[in-house]
Amino acid sequence: MPSHRIAVIPGDGIGTEVVPPAQRLLDAAGERYGFSFEWTELDWSCEYYARTGRMMPADGLETLREFDQIFLGAVGYPGVPDHVSLWGLLIPIRRTFRQYVNLRPVTLLPGIDSPLRDVPAGGIDFLVVRENNEGEYSEVGGRLYRGTDQELAVQETLFTRAGVERVMRYSFGLAASRGGRLASATKSNGIIHTMPFWDEIFRELAPEYAEVETSEYHIDALAGLFVLDPGRFDVVVASNLFGDILTDLGAAIIGSIGIAPSANLNPERDHPSMFEPVHGSAPDIAGTGRANPLGQVWAGAMMLEHLGHTDAARAVLTTMGKVLGETGVRTPDLGGTASTAEVEQELLRVFATLEDQEERA
Ligand SMILES: NC(=O)c1ccc[n+]([C@@H]2O[C@H](COP(=O)([O-])OP(=O)(O)OC[C@H]3O[C@@H](n4cnc5c(N)ncnc54)[C@H](O)[C@@H]3O)[C@@H](O)[C@H]2O)c1
Repeated sequence: MPSHRIAVIPGDGIGTEVVPPAQRLLDAAGERYGFSFEWTELDWSCEYYARTGRMMPADGLETLREFDQIFLGAVGYPGVPDHVSLWGLLIPIRRTFRQYVNLRPVTLLPGIDSPLRDVPAGGIDFLVVRENNEGEYSEVGGRLYRGTDQELAVQETLFTRAGVERVMRYSFGLAASRGGRLASATKSNGIIHTMPFWDEIFRELAPEYAEVETSEYHIDALAGLFVLDPGRFDVVVASNLFGDILTDLGAAIIGSIGIAPSANLNPERDHPSMFEPVHGSAPDIAGTGRANPLGQVWAGAMMLEHLGHTDAARAVLTTMGKVLGETGVRTPDLGGTASTAEVEQELLRVFATLEDQEERA
């Protein structure tokens, strides 16, 4: 029976509340489909930072290297600046392990009303590929003359040909394997060096994927179309910052940020990939037992898929769809009254009753 060694980093706030329910459902999937997980929990977090002055140990990345995959909740908590928690943990992991694809499905699940009018289930179903290693999130820059009238801050955006090309090739391949449409997010009217470079590479690669229909949108117009006409999209490729913002909007139109998942992928599989929900640690509801665990569960389904357990991944997604579409058990962010624990119980119950043909639905 295959066993997968998984590093688990629940992190902060609701991260610690949504990770265990997802682990239990993944364990149930393993039992049913003949594999298991060997979970190793790492307490790296803002609390760890408060004790040690670091978000993870000095050899943290070396520790992670030994695992098959990483399953993360969320990091960040009041008291520790967000740039410290992000740059001390998530960004080094994404970069060291060349997780240059951040894949974020935007799918309206059964039983959820989009805040957009007249969108049926399935009326929103696309993938955003966010470039995850470079772009606007760069360490190049600095501050000068702090505390004076001349104070200044400089932040450089960094795009490399290799970095842009690899994420675009991944996106073209993904579009070719789905509906055959790829949209690129740009802003080459206002950002006159990096964004024309991004566009040029997109256009250079397009002829190699003749079966993929391409389109390019300025990011501001694209954000509007996510609201006005989300059904037109199949795969969207975007730079680090643009993808980050677009996918919070994507999460909003599918009902709640509490559902949206994300996979930080090293497509070559030379290193572990990392699976996490899109949401953060939600300090405003942490400790109340009301966190929606579905984003974490969906991230778990993406991990199953990446590990090659396609049937198990599909069964987990079917389970989520049935819980949402048929039982009405849901957390307050989706208009329900259920607690995290009640949603977990319902997920486990429905998963146990799935018939074989439903799993393949
Ligand atoms: N990948 C990450 O670890 C990650 C991502 C985003 C933000 N953060 C960090 O999280 C902290 C809070 O950030 P924020 O408030 O901007 O974003 P957030 O995603 O934590 O919360 C935004 C809003 O959505 C709600 N929400 C989020 N997840 C939910 C869930 N599963 N169920 C129900 N409601 C949910 C919250 O209650 C809040 O009202 C910050 O420290 C930030 O840096 C971390």
